[in-house]
Amino acid sequence: MQIAIIGTGYVGLVTGTCLADSGNDVTCVDIDQAKIERLEQGEIPIYEPGLSELVLRNAAAGRLKFTTNTADAVRSARLVYIAVGTPTSDGGSHGKGVHPGELSENKGAADLRYVWSAVEGFAPHLPEDAVVVIKSTVPPGTNTKVFEMLQKLTGRTVDVASNPEFLKEGAAINDFQYPDRVVIGVRTKDAEEVLSELYGPFLRTDKPLLVMTPESAELTKYVANALLSTKISFINEMANLCERIGGDINDVRRGIGHDRRIGFAFLFPGVGYGGSCFPKDVRALAHLARQLGMDPLLLDSVDEVNNRQKHVLSHKIEKHFGGHLAGKQFAIWGLAFKPKTDDVREAPALTLINFLLERGAKCAVHDPEAMDNVQAQYRERLTYLHSPMDALEGADALAINTEWSEFRNPDFDEMKRRMRSPVIFDGRNLYDLAQIREHGFTYYSIGRDQIPQQSNSAGRTHAIVSSQSLGLGAKPASRPKTFH
Ligand SMILES: NC(=O)c1ccc[n+]([C@@H]2O[C@H](COP(=O)([O-])OP(=O)(O)OC[C@H]3O[C@@H](n4cnc5c(N)ncnc54)[C@H](O)[C@@H]3O)[C@@H](O)[C@H]2O)c1
Repeated sequence: MQIAIIGTGYVGLVTGTCLADSGNDVTCVDIDQAKIERLEQGEIPIYEPGLSELVLRNAAAGRLKFTTNTADAVRSARLVYIAVGTPTSDGGSHGKGVHPGELSENKGAADLRYVWSAVEGFAPHLPEDAVVVIKSTVPPGTNTKVFEMLQKLTGRTVDVASNPEFLKEGAAINDFQYPDRVVIGVRTKDAEEVLSELYGPFLRTDKPLLVMTPESAELTKYVANALLSTKISFINEMANLCERIGGDINDVRRGIGHDRRIGFAFLFPGVGYGGSCFPKDVRALAHLARQLGMDPLLLDSVDEVNNRQKHVLSHKIEKHFGGHLAGKQFAIWGLAFKPKTDDVREAPALTLINFLLERGAKCAVHDPEAMDNVQAQYRERLTYLHSPMDALEGADALAINTEWSEFRNPDFDEMKRRMRSPVIFDGRNLYDLAQIREHGFTYYSIGRDQIPQQSNSAGRTHAIVSSQSLGLGAKPASRPKTFH
């Protein structure tokens, strides 16, 4: 089948590559010429495990092409996918003549300008039998708007289907090739049949193709992301409560996770969710609910809890150093919003870095994949180190934001040798408390006991918050723990 993918980002490139790999003839289009040039030379512009090999293999087989020329890609396509970005609107009018009063009303909405301009770009070249497939995450009602827009632009009825994407960055290839389900929102039998045929090879293991209306398909994507975000904000709030009462969120997590009605997934406490999907999709869904006259209390709270959680390490750091951060040196491990990606959109690490820089601290940062993206934004304001150990040299403290597996078993003795003071702010609960205690670190994590510092070289002891200091019941100092 001939397929054109409009937008060659994380989703467009993975979709195009996986569809080529299952035998289709795919052309990926992007307006970013530099990106297309890199792809044509076999260079992959994003980090996604397994993607590079798959792109190279399918490009070499002639099944996967890249272009900036929309007309060429679309002219003989049976399916035209829209996979452009739909970021959060800043409330601006983008030159479209919006009344100033509407600016704040639009805040949080999905910004669909890339969708509209993609449609305007390919409409004149659409073949008669093409089905347009909206893969981008778009608010319910967008399919109908695209349908009406294409009717006006082409003077005929164009079939428009919705096919939201549920892949996770870091596991995108596997998620696309072995989906839990494929959701399609269709108006016609033809669209249903062509998409069933296309996704057949990916649904061999009894996973369902769920056929519904475009509106339900569009909403399904938002509801999935909103529920996952809710779980994260919920466990983060419970973790903060644990700290106050001297509980351990890992024990609590296991205590609830074994209940089959609850389970373990997405109940890891941390520094809040980031990335290009959860934050914007929760806000867009809340905005949609508000537009429809509802008061989305839960969605607003999920967003608010997350915004606060992104400051959780900043508050612990500020408290530990008594507010004196100017001139302090911080090692930052982990910049990407999660492991196995180079994506730093809305990453909690950037919230922390901004906080530290604003207070005159210095940051030496390390991430296995995301350094280029951070360097493009921060330039010489940060020091970039290719080894996590090098980032620790002379550090007053280490802050961990991303649970990359290479951070899980560090040489603690070497760390202590490199650091000016052995203090760790762990936003991902990577380490066993007993082990950390044994190595003599001051250790702050999320929803667990905070391990006090022994007297430092100046003979001072820093303030600590622990269950003991709150008088809420002492715990054995080195109770053995197992963490999932
Ligand atoms: N990233 C994810 O994990 C993920 C997962 C599921 C769904 N989604 C959704 O998929 C959509 C795309 O997300 P992404 O992360 O791939 O975005 P992205 O920013 O990585 O990629 C979008 C690409 O579209 C290109 N583009 C914009 N306008 C264009 C046009 N008119 N013609 C051709 N190319 C154009 C941009 O240059 C960019 O390369 C969003 O709606 C997002 O919410 C993303």
